[in-house]
Amino acid sequence: MGLCSPVCKILRRGKYFVLLFLSLSLLAWIATFSGETVKSAQVSPSTTQTLVKGDSLRDKLTSWTTAPDRLNTPPAKGECPEKSPLLQGAVKLSFESSLKLKDVQSDNKGVTEGEYEPPDCRARQSVAILIPHRSRERHLLYLLHHLHPFLQRQQLHYAIYVIQQAGDATFNRAKLLNIGYLEALKDYSWECFIFHDVDLVPENDHNSYVCDKQPKHLVVGRNATGYKLRYKGYFGGVTAMSKEQFLQVNGFSNIYWGWGGEDDDLRIRVELQKMKIVRPPADVARYTMVFHKRDSGNEINKDRMRLLGRTSQVWRKDGLNSCSYKTLSVERLPLYVNITVDIGKPQS
Ligand SMILES: *[C@@H]1O[C@H](CO)[C@@H](O)[C@H](O)[C@H]1NC(C)=O
Ligand SMILES: *[C@@H]1O[C@H](CO)[C@@H](O)[C@H](O)[C@H]1NC(C)=O
Repeated sequence: MGLCSPVCKILRRGKYFVLLFLSLSLLAWIATFSGETVKSAQVSPSTTQTLVKGDSLRDKLTSWTTAPDRLNTPPAKGECPEKSPLLQGAVKLSFESSLKLKDVQSDNKGVTEGEYEPPDCRARQSVAILIPHRSRERHLLYLLHHLHPFLQRQQLHYAIYVIQQAGDATFNRAKLLNIGYLEALKDYSWECFIFHDVDLVPENDHNSYVCDKQPKHLVVGRNATGYKLRYKGYFGGVTAMSKEQFLQVNGFSNIYWGWGGEDDDLRIRVELQKMKIVRPPADVARYTMVFHKRDSGNEINKDRMRLLGRTSQVWRKDGLNSCSYKTLSVERLPLYVNITVDIGKPQS
């Protein structure tokens, strides 16, 4: 101990100084490093934000590449609610003889070329309404008058197509509906099709014009039959089938000329595919049938029972895949698209 000189003491203390110096520099270095990390995170706050906000990869990519425009585009519309808040239930229908087409137009300013989309939400289904027609202008006017507001209250994206049979050969409702399906799909990939008689006006907007997992028959009752189903298995008047369901049954038969049978034929096609017809509750699926005499050119089809006996053998080759016609004109009017077609005449 006594051997240790003052020099020795200084050296020992110096060791502590060196240690102190080294620890201080280490601390300083750590401080600088973390400071830089914080700074670099602050440089790109937008990247961090988009990563959090974007909910799909495509959203992220578009927001990265088009970030500046994003401020100006309106936010994407949310899906419409399952039950529209605009529904009114049973409404009083009017059939005023003074009603004019231009009145219906000014009541439906949101409709262009027969098409409408809800302004503040994204519709749950896109639906094409197909109405076969010949010389029933008054009925069509009443139907448009009620149907446009009805569909808007249901918050649907929809378009109305009138398929007009040219000439005066016997009427063929089913073939006109096949044509409506094929032609409407050229405009838009509609998910759902409503096959709609011109003289039936829905009375209650809880009767949803959308497609279900099964084909749907919308007319349980009409004022003309005391609001009772005409017969078990009745599938006429107004029906709803999805794009796929209708394709699966090869559409309607094309060979029913005159009144009756084609709707039973469609039911047989549906049943052959093991699908099941569904109906809304009877108190909702109510229609008013506008009065008319049996049209000339649409006499009862006396051959219908014979044809119905063959459906299971012929449905594969008689239907959408064999529907031949000539389109004479397509007029895009304010309230509907008028597709006028030459569909030939019955083979004797
Ligand atoms: C059903 O109602 C319509 C419209 O009010 C009317 O023209 C028709 O005659 C009624 N039919 C029956 C059978 O009551
Ligand atoms: C559809 O267009 C045809 C041809 O222009 C025309 O004769 C017919 O009256 C139109 N039908 C309707 C319902 O607009």
